[in-house]
Amino acid sequence: MGETVRIIEMGPRDGLQNERTPVGVTARIAFIEALVASGLHTVEVGAFVSPKAIPQMVGSDEVLRGVGSIAGSEFHVLVPNLKGYEAARAAGAKVVSVFAAASEGFSRANINCSVAESIERFKPVVARARADGIRVRGYVSCVLGCPHDGEVKPQAVVDVAKSLWDLGCYEISLGDTIGVGTPGQARELLRAVAGSVPMRSLAMHFHDTYGQALANLYAGLEEGARVIDSAAGGLGGCPFAPGATGNVATEDVVYMLEGLGVSTGVDMAKLVAATNAISHQLGRAPVSRVANALNAKGNRSETSKRD
Ligand code: HMG
Ligand code: MG
Repeated sequence: MGETVRIIEMGPRDGLQNERTPVGVTARIAFIEALVASGLHTVEVGAFVSPKAIPQMVGSDEVLRGVGSIAGSEFHVLVPNLKGYEAARAAGAKVVSVFAAASEGFSRANINCSVAESIERFKPVVARARADGIRVRGYVSCVLGCPHDGEVKPQAVVDVAKSLWDLGCYEISLGDTIGVGTPGQARELLRAVAGSVPMRSLAMHFHDTYGQALANLYAGLEEGARVIDSAAGGLGGCPFAPGATGNVATEDVVYMLEGLGVSTGVDMAKLVAATNAISHQLGRAPVSRVANALNAKGNRSETSKRD
C-alpha cells in the first residue's frame, strides 16, 4: 500500500453538524485553519442546507469566505438543491457535494424526497456547476444499512452511485451512515460499485458506531480504494440517523496509514492540538483512540516533568 491515500477531513461539517453545542463561525474558521496547518488540505467546511434541518451549519457562507484564501487547500460544502448551490457559489465554493441515499427511508428523512426525485433535483445542480467550472462530489448514504429500512442491498448502492457518476460527479463517497458494516460487507460493496464507477473514484465514508470503521477501511484499501473521509476527534454523526456516532477519527486513520507505510503528510501533534481545541469548545473528550492515547502520554510526561 505504499502509495498515496487522500484524506478528506469531515470534522467541520459532518462532525459539527451533529454536536449539541453550536460552534460559532469564528471558532469553526479557527478549527479549519488548524486542520489545514496540520497537513489536511482537503476539508469539508459546511453545508448550504435548510437552517431548520441543521441549525449547526448556519453561517457556512461566512465560514467558506473566511477560509477561502488559504493557499493550496480545497474546501468542500454540501448542497442539497439549486438554492444551496447558488448560495455556495456566491460564497466562493470551488467544490460542492450533492448527497443521495441508497434507501428510501433515509432519503425521505434526510432530504424530504425519494431517491429518484433527489437524482432529478441534482441534475440542474450538476449542470449549473459544470457550466460554472465548479466540481461536484456525490455521496451515497446508508450503503451498509439504513436506520429506517434495515438491510440495504449492494445493487441499490450500485444504482445510485452509477446515477451520480453518470450525472458528472468526479468522485462518489460511499457512506456507512450508521456505522453498522463489517469488513466482508465493505469489501463486497466496493467490488460491486467498482463495476460501475472506477475504484480510484470511490471514497470510503465510514461512521464508527459499532467500532468497525478502521477494519472496514483496511478491507477497502486492500481492494484498491484510495480515498478516505474522516473527522478529527471522531466528531459528529447525522441528525437524521438516530444513535449513529461520528466518522472514523482522522487521528486513528493517520496512525494506521503511517503504520502501513503510507505517508499522509499530517503532523499528528498539530492534528491532536486541533482536536483538543474543538473538543474543549464542545466540552467533551475526543472519541479518537489515538488522540486519547497521545493526550494521556503527554499528561504523563508533563506530570513526570513536574515530579
Ligand atoms: P424541504 O422542506 O423539502 O424544502 O427540505 P423546500 O424546498 O420545501 O423548502 C422549505 C424551506 O427550506 C423554505 O424556506 C426554503 O427556502 C428552505 P421557508 O419558505 O419555509 O422559510 N430551503 C433552504 N434554505 C437554505 N438552504 C437550502 C434550502 N433549500 C430549501 N439549500 C431540504 C428539503 C433538502 C432543503 C432539507 O431537507 C435539508 O436541508 N436537508 C439537509 C439535511 C442535512 O443536511 N443532513 C445532513 C447532511 S447528509 C449526511 O450527513 C450524510 C453524509 O455525511 C454521508 C453519510 O454519512 O452517509 C453526507
Ligand atoms: Mg456522514
